[in-house]
Amino acid sequence: MIFYYTRTQKTKVAAEALHEITGLGLYALTAPVSEVKGFSFWVKAFKSVMSAKGCEVHNLPDTLPAEIYLCGPIWAGEMAGPLKYFLRELDISKTKIHCVLTGMQPTEKDRESARRVIERAGAQAGDIHLIATQKTMPEKDVLIEHLRALL
Ligand SMILES: Cc1cc2nc3c(=O)[nH]c(=O)nc-3n(C[C@H](O)[C@H](O)[C@H](O)COP(=O)(O)O)c2cc1C
Repeated sequence: MIFYYTRTQKTKVAAEALHEITGLGLYALTAPVSEVKGFSFWVKAFKSVMSAKGCEVHNLPDTLPAEIYLCGPIWAGEMAGPLKYFLRELDISKTKIHCVLTGMQPTEKDRESARRVIERAGAQAGDIHLIATQKTMPEKDVLIEHLRALL
């Protein structure tokens, strides 16, 4: 199973590429967008993203398989908030969690931070793949080749 959260649709392309390679079921996670007061547009936008609370999974199956993929963006050096809610809300104690995380310029620190979040949630961390989105996300065909080489 592949669970993904996306805000600006970049991770969605990566999750779909992963789905094409593995044939695993794709599940979208959504988070309520919060209204935040701030003194300028950018401060408001940043705060509303960072304070996204909760996470919903559509058509969540009753049991999780032994290994799942969790895909989403990196925000301020951490896996995006809704992904953390997802980890907290489910019984993942017997699950190994692989990640595909997208970011403008992902770093090794982001990989380590994701690993810690997964382990703190009580699950086992698997492979953590990072995809640099820069200004434009690579095309799906390029991502498929890229991910195929990593998996
Ligand atoms: C509030 C915020 C913080 C971000 N922080 C980081 C970061 O620390 N490192 C990084 O590489 N990208 C960062 N980004 C960029 C996003 O991770 C990147 O654009 C991602 O691919 C977006 O995924 P999505 O389109 O699936 O939402 C940040 C974006 C936002 C909105």
